[in-house]
Amino acid sequence: MGNMACLVLLILAASTLSLPPASLAVTSPYVRPPPRETLSLLQDDDADGQTPQQVHISMVGPDKMRVSWITDDDAPATVEYGTTYGQYPFSVTGTTTTYKYVLYRSGKIHDAVIGPLQPSTTYYYRCSSDPSREFSFRTPPATLPFKFVIVGDLGQTGWTESTLQHIAAADYDVLLLPGDLSYADFIQTRWDSYGRLVSPLASARPWMVTQGNHEIEKLPVLEPKPFKAYNARWRMPYDDADHHSHSPPPSGSNLFYSFDVAGGAVHVVMLGSYTDFAAGSAQYNWLRRDLAAVDRSQTAAFVVALVHAPWYNTNVAHKGEGDAMRGAMEEVLYEARVDAVFAGHVHAYERFQRVYDGKPDPCGPVYVTIGDGGNREGLAEKFVDPQPAISEFREASFGHGRMEVVNATHALWTWHRNDDDVPVVADQVWITSLAANPACNTNKNKM
Ligand SMILES: [Fe+2]
Repeated sequence: MGNMACLVLLILAASTLSLPPASLAVTSPYVRPPPRETLSLLQDDDADGQTPQQVHISMVGPDKMRVSWITDDDAPATVEYGTTYGQYPFSVTGTTTTYKYVLYRSGKIHDAVIGPLQPSTTYYYRCSSDPSREFSFRTPPATLPFKFVIVGDLGQTGWTESTLQHIAAADYDVLLLPGDLSYADFIQTRWDSYGRLVSPLASARPWMVTQGNHEIEKLPVLEPKPFKAYNARWRMPYDDADHHSHSPPPSGSNLFYSFDVAGGAVHVVMLGSYTDFAAGSAQYNWLRRDLAAVDRSQTAAFVVALVHAPWYNTNVAHKGEGDAMRGAMEEVLYEARVDAVFAGHVHAYERFQRVYDGKPDPCGPVYVTIGDGGNREGLAEKFVDPQPAISEFREASFGHGRMEVVNATHALWTWHRNDDDVPVVADQVWITSLAANPACNTNKNKM
């Protein structure tokens, strides 16, 4: 190579290095595999009338756990538990409910809150005093680091199963689900089959969920009340009984609530996209109270929020459906310096820059759409072209996300694509706490 050619190459290389990239926006070229069938778990063949089924747990305050399960027939709402396998020195008896939906009659839905419990401890338990099924869970740690799994629009297909296997293959503390659980879509036995499908995981780690459009299940005249099955089966911590004096204020509705983990180092806000969110509504007023009570300077290193319909979305599917909620609540989240907002609904993965009011903003949340758990409706493959610059990475594949809050300033977000059944990290980014950024630390008192 001649000297002149070397010089030209050097100049070209130098100019390339000094220029910022035209755009960070990436649309993944990965070609996804085809959809998979709905699984059939309509029967629990080994269960008799008092055998606990569909067991799942959820956090209640800093040191308690709600255990929820279903039996076909009457059975005591009792949870026996302890820290040694097969020995249950503690016992709590909770409550039992049922619901009717058109011609469907639910099983007996039991619910008992156990504790106080030690952090980072494995508890063994059984439900309805049934010796044939023993369960265990591990309580979340009381300090950082803390590991979340986040997965939306799960459904109950072959791809759901693949996603659940990937989730189970690596450790985590709490699972967050931003809506669309079972895709029962009015067929109530599908809620039961969904409960059976997720129980191996949901009985072992807290599953904290919020609702999606598939949870509404309103039927004209016949079933005018929304969220009947969801509220009966997936009760989350929302009322006075679930809260200690130092907990976030109770929301009073199962459709939106918040909770702390890691001794308050992370505050999680679960919002409801399908209940009133306008200024002056119960949800809006609660959200303002809730975020005003979060101490960003001392305790809450990270605040994250979950919604169902994304506020930012460059997929053709469901375009604009989150705009009204964004219009009502974006400023509230922004002023509280919420670090990240996770949404579902769009069956694809997408991650945005820090954004506020449609524009890049270093003090806005990172927005992530993670509605790709594996539901029967398939993927949302069509994105708006060209990719807007605020959208940093997008791909229409199934998968799940993980957020590991490593310390008070850094959280690692990774997205794990179901790559022909092998989980592949297809996107990752470090999220730094806005509470630790002095430039973003000024507006909190305006709340
Ligand atoms: Fe949805």
